[in-house]
Amino acid sequence: MKITIIGSGYVGLVSGACLAEMGNDVMCLDVDARKIASLNDGKVPIHEPGLEPVIRRNVEAGRLHFTTDTPAAVRHGTLQFIGVGTPPDEDGSADLQYVLEAARGIGRHMTDYKVIVNKSTVPVGTADRVEAVVREELASRGIEVEFAVASNPEFLKEGNAVEDFMKPDRVIVGANDERALLLLRALYAPFCRNRERLVLMDRRSAELTKYAANAMLATRISFMNELAALAERVGADIEAVRHGMGSDPRIGTHFLYAGIGYGGSCFPKDVKALLRTAHEQSVPLEVLAAVENANERQKRVLVDKIVARFGESLDGLQFGLWGLAFKPNTDDMREAPSLVLIAELLRRGARLKAYDPVAMAEARRRLGATSGLSFATTADEAAKGCDALLVATEWLQFRSPDFAQLRGLLRQPVVFDGRNLYDPVLMADAGLEYHAVGRPV
Ligand code: UGA
Repeated sequence: MKITIIGSGYVGLVSGACLAEMGNDVMCLDVDARKIASLNDGKVPIHEPGLEPVIRRNVEAGRLHFTTDTPAAVRHGTLQFIGVGTPPDEDGSADLQYVLEAARGIGRHMTDYKVIVNKSTVPVGTADRVEAVVREELASRGIEVEFAVASNPEFLKEGNAVEDFMKPDRVIVGANDERALLLLRALYAPFCRNRERLVLMDRRSAELTKYAANAMLATRISFMNELAALAERVGADIEAVRHGMGSDPRIGTHFLYAGIGYGGSCFPKDVKALLRTAHEQSVPLEVLAAVENANERQKRVLVDKIVARFGESLDGLQFGLWGLAFKPNTDDMREAPSLVLIAELLRRGARLKAYDPVAMAEARRRLGATSGLSFATTADEAAKGCDALLVATEWLQFRSPDFAQLRGLLRQPVVFDGRNLYDPVLMADAGLEYHAVGRPV
């Protein structure tokens, strides 16, 4: 099938590469000429495990092309995927200018039947707006061309995106046009070979499903984070509680990990946008509003523990920080809880030495000039000579350090673990004072 992907960011690139991998002829469009040039040279601008070989393979096979040429890209695909960004506006609502601009580009250049498939996370009703914009463009050209607009939200997780695309739990398609449905069914059939994973619905329900899924996951996390605080007070261990709860299949084990709050480019933005939509519709989403507040509080949970241990002023203290990315297997630091931690500790006079297995370049770009913050080249170097070690991201390589050696590296044997990675018994045995989230000290 001939496919165009508008927007070669995270969603666009992964979708384009994986659709090409399944034998389709894919053209990815982006307005950023530098990005397109480097992609054509085989350089992948994001850190995503397994993506680079898929891109390389398919570029070499001639199934994956990158361009800045909008007319050529619109000509290319019968399916026109929109995968551009929808950053939050000042009021939290999703900014649709890039989505609508992409739609306009299609309307301006199309000459035959197109299915416009929206993959970006967009508020309910956006498919209608996309349809209206394309109609406007066609009318201004004085021509009539048939087209359909479908909603096909993306459920990729950063760090696992290729796998998520190739083996989806479900593929949500919202469409009201038979011909479009047939094309999308055929496109996704090879991804759903062992079990029917295509869930068909109307466009508005598809758009809402995406927000509802992310909001539910964020809710689970904030719920556990609040329970963790209570567990600490009553002398319970949230890890045991999580295990006990998660064994009930109605609850399930995923997304019950207490920590330093959720971050990333999706949950914070999508929770805000859904709250905004609800506000506009005068529908209370009180549970979700509390989820957002709880998460803001949670990002400071380690700071509170550090202050309780060392006092309000952290002048003269040096902390080692393991992990900067908002989660493992990515260099993404958008809305990362580590950013709040760093800012709050520096504000109180501490110095910080940070290390992340892949986000160092991104950290230097964002925080390179921050006084009081330095970067280490290894995890050991970050811990060396520090008054405490702080863990902000659960990278595999941080999971089983040599505790005795760690104790030797630290000036004071204190660990603040924002991801509950370690066994308190082993920590005590190694002579390390261990502060985790929702666990007895
Ligand atoms: C999330 C969803 O999981 C994807 O399904 C969705 O497609 C994507 O957003 C999106 O909307 O594009 P992602 O933001 O990549 O994916 O990351 P997650 O793995 O969901 O983690 C989000 C945050 O929650 C991280 O900061 C993570 O540390 C935190 N988290 C996750 C917890 O604090 N506790 C948990 O139990 C799970």
